[in-house]
Amino acid sequence: MSIHGRSYRVITLNEFIIERQADFLHAKGELSRLLHHLGVAAKIVNKKINKAGLVDILGRAGDVNVQGEEVQKLDVFANEQFIAALRASGECCGIASEEDQTITVFDEGLSRDGRYVFCMDPLDGSSNIEVNVSVGTIFSIYRRRSEPGTPAQLEDFLQPGTAQVAAGYVIYGSSTMLVYTTGNGVNGFTLDPSIGEFCLSHPDIKTPTSGRIYSLNEGNHVHFPEGVKAYIRHCQKDDPATGRPYTSRYIGSLVSDFHRNLLKGGIFIYPPTGAAPKGKLRLVYECNPIAFVAEQAGGRASDGVGRILERKPVDLHERVPFFVGSRDMVSEAERFLADPPPR
Ligand code: AHG
Ligand code: MN
Ligand code: MN
Repeated sequence: MSIHGRSYRVITLNEFIIERQADFLHAKGELSRLLHHLGVAAKIVNKKINKAGLVDILGRAGDVNVQGEEVQKLDVFANEQFIAALRASGECCGIASEEDQTITVFDEGLSRDGRYVFCMDPLDGSSNIEVNVSVGTIFSIYRRRSEPGTPAQLEDFLQPGTAQVAAGYVIYGSSTMLVYTTGNGVNGFTLDPSIGEFCLSHPDIKTPTSGRIYSLNEGNHVHFPEGVKAYIRHCQKDDPATGRPYTSRYIGSLVSDFHRNLLKGGIFIYPPTGAAPKGKLRLVYECNPIAFVAEQAGGRASDGVGRILERKPVDLHERVPFFVGSRDMVSEAERFLADPPPR
């Protein structure tokens, strides 16, 4: 392709995955195939999400459509699509999902020998979908601990985030993107709907070391710990560099809020609150994958005290306070939490 006399070679997700296969120690192509199947499921979910605005024409969740089928909620649909795609890949021996209380074990055919387990939030920010705001899918891949050829165990999914072999997200926004890391930098691919391919659009993403955006649900302010309140006061003071306070931006979709801050520089916070004393977000399939991407882009992710990726999960659905984004901003927030200055 040639634009303004410069020639560009489009690199599709599949080409990129194959090129990078050598990055993985002992790579036999299994992880590559798994990522490929993930991309296919993302395209199917993307198509369905694009139709969500037609809900009054095609029917609401719980309705029966013209084919006589019940219309599903989109998070249930996304869950089923990703499970089906990964089951078909044969590389994955089980899945943990926000939508399912317990793990789903693929105990048949090739999957039994699969060396990987997959954790996901199939549709993040789902309450935003009916108002046409970006939503996402978050995923994380681990090498199993249990013996291949036996059923996957809960312990395979309860590994610290440092053991992730790949993680990332799909953002269904003004365009659809897949952003992922295998521990060797972060790369972003934009879906070109005309050819139905994810194309490399954001190679080797690096997040600014500091930024000017802070993102949290300030409606919960009265319930925040003193250190978080003090950090917000700091964000709202005139910054000597610009003569203005930081900018507040909060969509209420973790993937979208994080993605914006990743590219522009900023901090996303979901602190402990009165209603959610451990925070709201889930360690295994929300915070760990986002934290892996953040670190690989040069940012940081903390629970307020220490590195998110070093926490050993005890429960599939456990929640954790989350401070993620530009390195210097996360470190500064930690200092406010450890020692809140008086008002
Ligand atoms: P989900 O749609 O998967 O349940 O996640 C919603 C999450 C996350 O996307 C977002 O950051 C957060 O909930 C927003 O919570 P508040 O509405 O409490 O701000
Ligand atoms: Mn979520
Ligand atoms: Mn969800």
